[in-house]
Amino acid sequence: MIPLKNPEAIKRMRESCSIAATVLARLKEQVRPGITTYDLDQIGRDLIASFGARSACHGYQLHSRRYPAYTCLSVNEEVVHGIGSLKRILRDGDVISLDVVVEYNGYIGDNALTVPVGTIAPRTAELLQVTEEALALGIKQAVPGNRIGDIAHAVQSFVESHGFSVVREMVGHGVGRAMHEEPQIPNFGRKGTLEKIKPGMTLAIEPMVNLGRHEVRSLSDGWTVVTADGSPSAHFEHTVLTTDSGPEILTVPRPASD
Ligand code: MF3
Ligand code: CO
Repeated sequence: MIPLKNPEAIKRMRESCSIAATVLARLKEQVRPGITTYDLDQIGRDLIASFGARSACHGYQLHSRRYPAYTCLSVNEEVVHGIGSLKRILRDGDVISLDVVVEYNGYIGDNALTVPVGTIAPRTAELLQVTEEALALGIKQAVPGNRIGDIAHAVQSFVESHGFSVVREMVGHGVGRAMHEEPQIPNFGRKGTLEKIKPGMTLAIEPMVNLGRHEVRSLSDGWTVVTADGSPSAHFEHTVLTTDSGPEILTVPRPASD
């Protein structure tokens, strides 16, 4: 069953999502050569707390392990779920994916983006652009009457037409009271397949795209997912509300005065 959100739930989703987006935007401003991913995670923790929200990542349980950090910070060949570390110092030419998931007033907002650290290789810059655009194209398909496979197909065909590859092992998802609700939203697949989209769904659409091959593996920390071939990876994510008048991105930052 895919939960449909009533007006009260949508109101709360707007709040949690705008907090998640504001935290992400401010965290992004802190990315620079020389900073450690541990420090970025601490900044993320403090930003989340400043809104009276809670990290939905911290303590998140998967296979009897609890996620130890407050945000997910994944550098270069790390695809997702990188754990901030004092040993990981960002250097000019790196890319870093920032994934911020917050819970506020019982509802979750989930968003992510990948940014360059200083000057990056042209093909890596293209990877970031294509992944962000793939997300936009996927979101465009999130309209009532379409199916989840329409999102998947839009992402995959665009990404592959640029010679990049989509990760199969992790998928987007419904989001609401829980971080992961139905449906699963793969970034690969065929048009006209999977669940039918209705108004009132809140969907986290999140292409993970590799510069090289699509295969991934997990590090021994039990969390960090890396590309099998060591090529860089990018990740962009928004939480989106489906409506009769089209998709609405909920993970939009609050104005700076807040
Ligand atoms: N955006 C990620 C997801 O949807 C966040 C994972 S949080 C963690 O799965 F706890 F797994 F780190
Ligand atoms: Co997500």
